[in-house]
Amino acid sequence: SAYMPPLFSLGYHQCRWSYFPEARVREVASEFRKRSIPANVMWMDIDYMDQFRVFTFNDKHFPDPAKFNADLESQGFKTVWMIDPGIADQPGYFVRDELLGLTSIDTKAGGAVRAPSGEAFRGGVWPGPCVFPDFTNDKVRQWWAGLYKNFMATGIDGVWNDMNEPAVFETESKTMPEDNLHLGGLYQSAPDQPAQTVTPGNHARFHNVYGMLMAQGTFDGILGTNPQKRPFVLTRANFIGGQRYAATWTGDNSATWNDVEQSIPMIINLGLSGQPFVGPDTGGFAGNGPKDEVERADMFARWMGIGTFFPFYRGHTARGNIDKEPWAFGPETEKASKIAIDRRMVLLPYLYTLFHEAATTGVPVMRPLFFADPKDVSLRSEDDAFLFGDHVMVVPQLMPDRSRTPAMSKGLWRKFDVVDASHAALPTIYLKGGSIIATGPLMQYEWERPLNPLTLHVALDESGKASGTLYEDAGEGFDYKQGDYLLTAYTATATNGQVTVAVGQAEGKRQRPNRPITVIIHGAGGNTVLTGTDGQPITGKFTP
Ligand code: NOJ
Repeated sequence: SAYMPPLFSLGYHQCRWSYFPEARVREVASEFRKRSIPANVMWMDIDYMDQFRVFTFNDKHFPDPAKFNADLESQGFKTVWMIDPGIADQPGYFVRDELLGLTSIDTKAGGAVRAPSGEAFRGGVWPGPCVFPDFTNDKVRQWWAGLYKNFMATGIDGVWNDMNEPAVFETESKTMPEDNLHLGGLYQSAPDQPAQTVTPGNHARFHNVYGMLMAQGTFDGILGTNPQKRPFVLTRANFIGGQRYAATWTGDNSATWNDVEQSIPMIINLGLSGQPFVGPDTGGFAGNGPKDEVERADMFARWMGIGTFFPFYRGHTARGNIDKEPWAFGPETEKASKIAIDRRMVLLPYLYTLFHEAATTGVPVMRPLFFADPKDVSLRSEDDAFLFGDHVMVVPQLMPDRSRTPAMSKGLWRKFDVVDASHAALPTIYLKGGSIIATGPLMQYEWERPLNPLTLHVALDESGKASGTLYEDAGEGFDYKQGDYLLTAYTATATNGQVTVAVGQAEGKRQRPNRPITVIIHGAGGNTVLTGTDGQPITGKFTP
């Protein structure tokens, strides 16, 4: 099943191709804090490298990556840096020399993917002619993992594996020729599983798993450098099984209404295919969007608004495009974007619980609407409205002229929100009757404060009952595997105008924090707010 991501990676990420030099990254990061728009992660695309050579830094633009990472960390930002599979074929460049020097693997090509002649295959990517590690071989993956030691030592928090189909510029297929040769080797599907032998074969056979195997090597490399931390890897190419190693994004979309719309079924389908941690380039990779500036800004706001509920939430755009930070489209769009990201931060405890569910059962984080009512055939073709876990229905209005009317699940759903602000461009959200979800305080970044106070949003069902769970752990590391977590099932029961919210069941060795709880009962006649202490029953009168 899927791996449990570090909590920081569930917040908002800011990226573009490329923020450089480092002064520009610092400027954008500071702008988030100045404007009180939450953000957890800043991303470095290819231009941080020295001549696009992976595992190097451009010493003019990023002269001291360790200091840079430490400074960002002190502002509450994690950093993710790109690593591609194309290795510049330049003698003297250590990664290339080491790869071709793995002659115990193959005397002619070392650990590189081979052309039919048996020589290392050469193909052009960003640095010009490149050789490519043969990730189908376990020794090559081990060597690759080892490269992360010095790289991560600069304080990098996560790695972005791009172009790993692998992309090759000059071929007609834009990838490797199908008759290239791969070594195969030993493969373990999980650390506690026996190694299996994968026989050698051509690229046609391995093409679809190349990206996943790269992500696996990257995951192992990051883990090796810091076994106390959960690796974060984003990969462009992945395969069934790759959810154990990496989040996946949907690659190069465009700033068009069609792409806004498409991002919803794409994420749902990836979730149904076993990849829960997925998202698009929010704001659109290619192009600037509609010519009309008002429409352009509105489109951006609507994309940010649905992004709140996507498992992976990152703004990104291509080289040469206009700025696409949340404030780049003027005050109105900034306001909408801030509410969208605020919602995300407040929802983190619920989202993290959904990731726990995905990691233990395989059920996706973002779900098709028909999951709410499999018998209702009208929901089966709906792909604007969707479910965020079982308890929340998200109903976006994707077209500014309101020309689309999403289907909605029947039954008891209470319109609600988790922040005290709204904007017409943002989706309407509903809490399912019978549900309790946990939310946290609004934070500018995820580790700013502990989950305190805790808020429980409750929507009672027709019989006056509701329930829901909250999963908590350190948000990082692996102690949860030894029981350092807390899984709480909260229940609500109403009789004679009184409601009682209590802990039904709890599991895990982690101590319950001594924290206040705010309970919000979302009734047809309005909201009731009750307060108390976590772990103790909270009782009061309420408006049904
Ligand atoms: C292609 C990726 O899909 C894109 O996200 C990235 O910005 C460019 N490569 C440059 O690295």
